[in-house]
Amino acid sequence: MIQLHDKYFKRFLSEKEILLAVQRVADQVAADYKDKTPIFVGVLNGSFMFVSDFLKAYPHPCEVSFVKLSSYQGLTSTGIVETLLDLPDNIEGRSVIILEDIIDTGRTLKELVHLFSNTNVKEFKIASLFYKAEVYNGEYAIDYFGLEIPDRFIVGYGLDYKELGRNFREVYQLNQKHMINLVLFGKPGAGKGTQAQFLKEQYNLQHISTGDVFRYNIKNGTDLGTLAKSYIDKGDLVPDEVTIKMLEDEVAKNQEADGFIFDGFPRTVAQAEALDNFLESKDMKINATIALEANDEVLIQRLLERGKVSGRTDDQDKDKIRNRFDEYNSKTAPLKTYYEEQGKFHSVNGIGTIAEITERLTKVIEGL
Ligand code: AP5
Ligand code: MG
Repeated sequence: MIQLHDKYFKRFLSEKEILLAVQRVADQVAADYKDKTPIFVGVLNGSFMFVSDFLKAYPHPCEVSFVKLSSYQGLTSTGIVETLLDLPDNIEGRSVIILEDIIDTGRTLKELVHLFSNTNVKEFKIASLFYKAEVYNGEYAIDYFGLEIPDRFIVGYGLDYKELGRNFREVYQLNQKHMINLVLFGKPGAGKGTQAQFLKEQYNLQHISTGDVFRYNIKNGTDLGTLAKSYIDKGDLVPDEVTIKMLEDEVAKNQEADGFIFDGFPRTVAQAEALDNFLESKDMKINATIALEANDEVLIQRLLERGKVSGRTDDQDKDKIRNRFDEYNSKTAPLKTYYEEQGKFHSVNGIGTIAEITERLTKVIEGL
């Protein structure tokens, strides 16, 4: 076990296993590029060790260069990818092979593909040492990879946790034993979002509100937002497949969290089952589901009050609020039994001052 900053990591891959994976990538590429003198482009910082060992294992003529994307990763409003270290300028008409240490959700890769789509390279391929196939959701098919790995947060061999750990010869994975994962449960307006703000500070947890993620997408006019809006505006639940996929992406984006507060998820038995399976695949679990209890009249008052200022269309109309309660009663309430059977269900009085309720929640969490 090693410690980096506040976290503990356990051994995941030995130096030998890593070098075998490097050799595998080099062999595959070498078979295809024997007579082509490709340019290998390493993506900094994470890939420097891989690039070095890869080149030692690559037997044919080749060139090497590096790119570095800015830490703000995303397209600017003009559609330009921000780079800190520019593309080499001799790549026209050449075969470019990107060397990545790891491909997970594919966000970086998407930017790289975009970056190279504006150049006149002859061809563009991706070779990654590690590949998290289960979370990858890009369109680009990965051309070469050394080792498929499960979705664990890893460090070492070039990969870091807050810049530490890059110098290890082996790869380590985050030890999840001390994680706290909570489901905040309750009707619309019960105070899930309000209380999550306090708990996330207190326990250093990552707060995921599926409602907030949907609203963020609606605001930014994404496809997901447009789809979700058609349901949310009526107070209906968004279909499970969409919501489950989105939740998994949010967890994958926050690998180094000390734990999660799931707010507004799961909302159906299918979502709860999907969450359990997903967490289990990551060596994680739900520690507790805590319900905030309050009666409908109080909740309707709170929501209508918020509706005056929040701009949330689903808060502004009593019928829509009623529909949200109906959805809750028919689809979400059965989860109480689901979590009771696992011995994880806790109930807290959700009426009182915000501070009083935080106190009640803290008691439950301390007792876990
Ligand atoms: P979502 O955004 O999750 O809305 P919701 O569940 O209806 O709950 P709210 O966010 O309105 O309430 P909250 O419990 O967080 O309370 P809050 O702290 O804000 O979901 C919106 C929609 O997205 C859904 O209807 C659905 O269409 C879709 N969706 C989301 N997740 C989905 C999923 N998993 N599957 C399918 N579809 C999904 O508090 C409410 C108000 O009360 C605030 O103004 C607050 O200031 C006030 N307040 C809080 N505590 C107190 C207190 N103690 N005293 C007085 N006032 C208080
Ligand atoms: Mg909320």
